[in-house]
Amino acid sequence: MVFGLFKKKEPVKCTIKPTGEEFTVPPDTSLMKAAFAAGIKWPHSCKVGSCGSCRATIVEGEGEHPSGICDPTTLLHPEEIQKKMVIACQWYPSSDVVVEVEVGKEGDKRGPI
Ligand code: FES
Repeated sequence: MVFGLFKKKEPVKCTIKPTGEEFTVPPDTSLMKAAFAAGIKWPHSCKVGSCGSCRATIVEGEGEHPSGICDPTTLLHPEEIQKKMVIACQWYPSSDVVVEVEVGKEGDKRGPI
């Protein structure tokens, strides 16, 4: 049986902490791309997973960085990964999420560790 194999993906809701701003993340859309579409000033620079300035902490909810040639988690310290910090331009939520990020500020562009 393959029930659920072809299940249609649904949009999820993102709530930003501490501002309380909310936006919808369509299926197969990165957290940061959906934030931009909603007019939110998410900290960023490269938009391709190489600078780290879009870092955010997932307070609630689930998602993943896609597997591929580039591993965006190389931009995070191990302790940041433990605290559920993600690279938002390369992270795809799979449930409603609450995210801590400093909207409107310039991110820390430290690059790969
Ligand atoms: S904007 Fe550079 S890593 Fe996300």
